[in-house]
Formats: sequence, structure tokens, C-alpha cells
Amino acid sequence: MMTRRQFLQNTATCALTAFALPAVGADEAEPGIEILANESIGRISPDLYGHFTEHIGGVIYDGVWVGEGSKIRNYGGIRADLVDSMKRIKPSVVRWPGGCFADSYNWRDGIGPREKRPRRTNFWINDPFLQRAPDGPAKYEPNEFGTNEFMHFCQLIGAQPYLAVNLRGNTARDFDEWVEYCNAPAGQTTLSSQRAANGAPAPFNVRFWGVGHESWGCGGHFTPEESATEFRRFTAWVPSYGLPLDFIGSGPNGGDLDWTRKFFARLTERDHGLLDRVYGWALHYYCGTAGKGDAIDFTVPDWYELLGKAVRMESLITSHWAAMAEVDRKHQVKLVVDEWGAWHRPGTEVAPTYLFGQTSTMRDALIAGLTLDIFNRHADKVAMANVAQLINNLHSLFLAREDKFTVTPNFYVFEMYAAHQGGQSLRTIFNAPALGGEGSTHSLAHLSGSASLHNRRLVLSVVNAHATEPIEVPIAIRGAQISSGSGQVLASSDIHAHNTFEEPQAVQLTEAPVVLKGKTLVHLFPPASVTTLQLQLT
Ligand code: AHR
Repeated sequence: MMTRRQFLQNTATCALTAFALPAVGADEAEPGIEILANESIGRISPDLYGHFTEHIGGVIYDGVWVGEGSKIRNYGGIRADLVDSMKRIKPSVVRWPGGCFADSYNWRDGIGPREKRPRRTNFWINDPFLQRAPDGPAKYEPNEFGTNEFMHFCQLIGAQPYLAVNLRGNTARDFDEWVEYCNAPAGQTTLSSQRAANGAPAPFNVRFWGVGHESWGCGGHFTPEESATEFRRFTAWVPSYGLPLDFIGSGPNGGDLDWTRKFFARLTERDHGLLDRVYGWALHYYCGTAGKGDAIDFTVPDWYELLGKAVRMESLITSHWAAMAEVDRKHQVKLVVDEWGAWHRPGTEVAPTYLFGQTSTMRDALIAGLTLDIFNRHADKVAMANVAQLINNLHSLFLAREDKFTVTPNFYVFEMYAAHQGGQSLRTIFNAPALGGEGSTHSLAHLSGSASLHNRRLVLSVVNAHATEPIEVPIAIRGAQISSGSGQVLASSDIHAHNTFEEPQAVQLTEAPVVLKGKTLVHLFPPASVTTLQLQLT
């Protein structure tokens, strides 16, 4: 059993290599949360709170795009309820148009007068789920939503665009020309004039470009060496129009360290300076029960198993980070976790064409909290993350069908955690018993979370992963004192709770009062909950 002193020493060592929450027994070490106000890990990029939209199932049609003539309230064809809700969570960046769809997309199909745009076969048409579904945009892409519409969506919600480039089917020239269409000054080139004719004279100034996507899979079944060669070719001399472009390489599937090592080695084989071309290294990880577990109907052991899988994100970050360092010794390149979330089997989608359109419950909300806390704790390593996917899909924040719309429990986690954006991530020690998840190989703690400092305001987020037990703990801040505070909590007496069109407020946030006894703060965290506390420091 570890004493408190050993616990502190142990976590200090971990922080140098991998910040893993240690599984400690509670006998000697009293449960508690200790925040080290003077130990910053790094700035929490707002881009950790990014999103992902793909032309798949019901994400774009009719999640995001309902059309200008629609009876559904819209802003230039974009679902107004979605825009209004997104503004509440300060979305920093949105990735588009895929996913695997990006690997078959030609951006030219999605510009110009909508009635003249070609209809194409959607990448996902062969998925068995769609064989049974009626025909529609999930199978046959109408291209009504293209580059200009996506940029308009980003402008409406105040997010930066992040475009995924088709490296499987298009050429490097197509890529250069998409950059030109988006970023060339008005009136200077035929493509920038086309952009103006399509309603957008000012450049879109797109900074983030994903050069390749899942190149190990639907993006071309490349070897890591081939993928690095293609990345080098595509990123050579791309016109920048005075805006530094941030290229994101197609990284590994989960724990495939071999992919990371071989890509970096091949990329730099003749010129180590080519590391400068890589802003981010895209890691994809879904904590899945794909094909197995139901999104809504699950047992308590299923709960622990999936939460245990979710926290594997931490070791994926630290292990890829270490593998990258074998070539990138100064850690120029950061991780971009541009697809993450829980993946359940079909059956809870709100429309028959909504491929992967699962309904999220409290379990998914806790997965969101656990994952965002991991990103915060690794703010020095992770530059961006994009939850998959925004609406009507895996781990979504929203469900929509025709004029019906609801937020899911995941939305509330993003709403609470928006307060972390831009703060200094602080080293925080959660001393709490480990929860052994059956079948789980990863250490899930009763309590975990993250903290960030914004001048004298501290934001603390805490997940109580226990399905049934509340836990009350003292919260100590080393190097500062709390003068006042407020809090919010997402909790339900039912771990399966979720919002529906009929009951859109079955799960919602409630206030979590902060009660100070003198200078001491003791807080009760309900079972299966996500809490954020905002504490004013003196
Ligand atoms: O998010 C659904 C799919 O999962 C994406 O298209 C693909 O990138 C991933 O494998």
C-alpha cells in the first residue's frame, strides 16, 4: 500500500514520462484531490475541443444541412438549432468532409450553383447497414453541401475549418488547387474568382489541412513508408498566400506504434528538416463495443469495461509521443486526435439511413469527460482533438431528424469543459481507489479529472466513474487559497439515461454549490457523474 508521500513521489516521476493515474488503495492515503497551482503542464489549446463532420449517414444531410428552402429553421440552409447550440460550447475547430468519405471526395464537386453540382455515389454505399435503408443522400451524394457551405457553417459557429485532403484518389495538384480556391487573394486567380462568384470574395484562410486520412485503411491501404512518401510529395511547395499552413499527417490506428515509427523514419530519411512540414500527427481511437454492445442497453460490468477502454487514450498518447521522440527529439510535432469516441452497435439510430447514428447515454458523457480530462492533462503533447462525430453519429453531441432536435448528454460535458479552453493545465493528483473493470486492462479510477488556471480562476473537472457510489473528498490547492466558487454537475440516477426527441431534458446540468468551511473545500461527487467547479483563488 502506498503512503501519501510515496504517492506524490510516484506521480511526480510519472509526470516526466507518462502521466498515468496510479491505482492506489485508499487505506493509508486518504481520498482527495490536490491541485498544484504552480505546476503548469502547458496551455490547453481550445482546439482540444474540436469536432468532426463527415458525409456519412445523417451527419451532413439532415444533421447540419437542411437546405435554404427548408421549413426547418436555418441560416442559409444550415440547421439553426445546431448553430445556436454550438455557440454555447465555443467550438474551436471543425474537421470535414471525412473520415473515409474524404478519401473519395473531389472538392470540385461541391462548388458552384447547387443545381448544377454532380450527384455521386457516397463512399459508404457498400456498408451492409445501408443495404436495407431507403435511397437518399447517405447513398447518393447530392453535393449540396460543399466547401462554401462548410465555411459558412464554421463562420456561423465561430470555429476554424480543418479540411481532410483526398490523398488516395486525388493528385497533389488537386490539393494545391483546393488551397488556392480557399486561400488565394480575391481577384488574383481563376479559382479565387470562382470562390468570389460562389459568394465568398474574401479568402477563407484555411490553416489546418489533413494530408491523408487513415492511410493504413480506407485512405489507401498504404504501408507507413508509402504514406510518408506520399505526404512528402503532397506537402512540397504548397502555395501558402502568406498564411502558414499546418499539415496533419495520417497517423496510427490506436496502438500501432510501428506505423508511427516507420512514418517518421521514412519522412526524414534524407532530410531531418522535413519534420517542419508536420504540424500534427493524427491518432484515431474509438473505445468500441462495435458490433457487440448496445448503446443504451448495457450492464454495470459493461459500464466499467467501456470506461476502462476509454482511459486507454492516456497510454496511447504517451506511447506514441515516446515513439515520435525517437526521430523528433525536440517534439516539434504534436498529436492531433482527430477521431475519438465510443462506438456501439447499430439499433439506436433515430432514422434508418443514419449509419453509425447511435444514441448517447450517461456512459458516453462520462467517456467524454474522461477523454477531455486526459487531453487537458497532456496539453503539452496534444494540439487538437475532434470528437467523432458532431451529430447523428458516433458519440454525437446532437440528434436531429427533420424538425426534431435534441442535445445529448455529451453536449453538456462540452458545455461545462469549455471553461478549460486557453487555461494553463495544472498538475493535479487524484487520490482515489481504483475501480477494476471486468475485462478491462486499463486502470480506471473512482475519481479522475483535470484542472486549469485562468489568471486567478481555477477550473476543476472531475469524473466519478463509480456506477453507484458517491464519493466525498477534500480539495486542496497547493500555492493558493479558494475564496469562492460555483459548480455544475451532470448526473442521473440511471446510468442508461439519455435524451430523446420526446424527452429532450431527461439528462441536463444542475448546479453543484461550492461550500467552503473556512478555507477548506470538501465536495460530494454523485455516482456516475461529471462535475466542473470554478474556483476563485486568492
Ligand atoms: O467516424 C466513422 C469512421 O470511422 C470514419 O469515417 C473513419 O475515419 C473511421 O474509421
